[in-house]
Amino acid sequence: MTADTKKRIAAERALEFVEDGMVVGLGTGSTAEHFINLLAEQVWQGLSVVGVATSIRTAELARERGIPLKEIDEVLGINLTVDGADEVDPQLRLIKGGGGALLREKLIAAASDRMIVIIDDSKLVDPLGQFPLPIEVVPFGFSVTSQKICEALAVEGCLGHRATLREGGDGVPFETDSGHYILDCACDTIPKPEALADRLCRIPGVVEHGLFLGMASLVIIGRTDGTEIIEALTKS
Ligand code: A5P
Repeated sequence: MTADTKKRIAAERALEFVEDGMVVGLGTGSTAEHFINLLAEQVWQGLSVVGVATSIRTAELARERGIPLKEIDEVLGINLTVDGADEVDPQLRLIKGGGGALLREKLIAAASDRMIVIIDDSKLVDPLGQFPLPIEVVPFGFSVTSQKICEALAVEGCLGHRATLREGGDGVPFETDSGHYILDCACDTIPKPEALADRLCRIPGVVEHGLFLGMASLVIIGRTDGTEIIEALTKS
């Protein structure tokens, strides 16, 4: 079974958690796209939901597929968000942002009663950190911010501590939907994700980092022999 098929079966399982009348946060990335396509099929068959998109790309796809959308500020709350992840550890801590949408993804996950993460089994790791940690920064002074980030990574025991400015296809810096840059930070391992997250938040110029801690309520893993669900003990 390919990784893409595993992503699709995880997305199919997530549909079971969607109820009529819900406001649903729609994630970004190839796994979330499977979910959006499957949700759209339910909408065509009469399911009534409103989507809140985590990126312009996702909003375009959802609109194209006929899922009614609202902006985050137009809804009173979000019942459920379904999104992918780049890495998930046994405590359901995540690295996200490989697609550059981490800021809006985190805002929407934080505004949701429940966040369901859908992944193929290659995303399960222990410890976090093999996937470069995306950090969204303001363009002004990004080299200074980058230096501070590398110092923070070193203090928190990340062996890699290198930050690379993400580029768009045309050699210019990649810009997020909110007009920021992304620094992809090689860590190798992140021994203390909470301590690193606290330290990163204190660096001027850092808008958001890709560590999603205590946010996932449930992770659905697509495997060759089916899906597995891991539930968080509590949602902080
Ligand atoms: C988008 O910014 C990311 O957080 C994605 O959710 C993450 O990169 C997973 O992407 P795939 O589903 O494409 O693997």
